[in-house]
Amino acid sequence: MPMGEDPLRPESLPRHVAIIMDGNGRWAERRGLSRVEGHRAGKEAVTQVVKAAGELGIEVLTLYAFSIENWNRPQSEVTELMRLAERFLEEELPEVMEQDIQVRAIGRLDRLPPNVRARVEHAVEKTRDNASLKLVFALSYGGRAEIVDAARRILRDAEMGRVDAEALDEKTFASYLYDPELPDPDLMIRTGGEERVSNFLLWQIAYSEIYVADVMWPDFGAESLRAAIVDYQGRERRFGLTSAQVSGGPTGSKGS
Ligand code: FPP
Repeated sequence: MPMGEDPLRPESLPRHVAIIMDGNGRWAERRGLSRVEGHRAGKEAVTQVVKAAGELGIEVLTLYAFSIENWNRPQSEVTELMRLAERFLEEELPEVMEQDIQVRAIGRLDRLPPNVRARVEHAVEKTRDNASLKLVFALSYGGRAEIVDAARRILRDAEMGRVDAEALDEKTFASYLYDPELPDPDLMIRTGGEERVSNFLLWQIAYSEIYVADVMWPDFGAESLRAAIVDYQGRERRFGLTSAQVSGGPTGSKGS
C-alpha cells in the first residue's frame, strides 16, 4: 500500500456492526479503580464509537449494553449500569438528534426500571424519523430469550390461525424477532479479548464475521473500530459456499 493511503474501503463497509462491549471491570481493576469507574469510562467509549460509526456511514450499530445475565450482578453495579444507560440517553440526545441518529432498543425492556424504560422509549420516539445511523441498544437482552419470545408469539398466532406449522420457515420465524427490520450483523466485534458469543444475537449472527479485540472497551475508540472494519474487509465471506463459487460470481450471493 502506498504511503498515506487509507486501507479502509468506504464502498464495502459492513452494513451492520454489533459490539459486545467487554472489559470495563478489568480496565478499572488494572488502574486500582472500582468496576463502576470502568463502566463510567465505558460510557465515554460508547459516545466516541457511536460518533465514529455515524461518520463512517455504517447503517446499523448494535451495542450489547446490558445482558439478561447482568441482572445477577451485585445490585450496586446493576443500579450504576442502569443509571449510565439512562444518563447516556438523556445527555447525548441533542447530539444524537444533531447527527440524525435513530435510536432503537431490543431486549426484555419490561424488566427495566420505569425511569430507564421511559427514557429509552422517549429516545426511540424522538429519533424515529432520523435517517442516518440506526443505533440499537441491547438492554436486558438475551439471545435465547429473544428466540423463546419469538416462539411464544408464533404459538399464540398459531392458536389464532395466523401461522401454519407446516408453512413456518426461517423468514417467518425471523419476522417475530425483536426488531425484524434490521439486517443481520455483518461484523460482530468483542472487546476484552475473550472468544465467546455470550448469548448475543444468537439467531442473527449465523454468518457474521467475528472480530475479537484485545483492548478493553474503555480503550476502544474510532481507530479500533476502523481496524476492525479493515480486518473484516480482508475476509472472504462464503455463506456456506466454496471459495471458487464466491469468487466465480453468480452463485456467490447470500442465501443461495
Ligand atoms: C462488560 O464489562 C460491560 C458491561 C456489562 C456493560 C456495558 C456497559 C457500558 C459500556 C456502560 C455504558 C452503557 C451505555 C449504554 C451508555 P465487564 O464489567 O463484564 O468487564 P470485565 O469482563 O472486565 O469484568
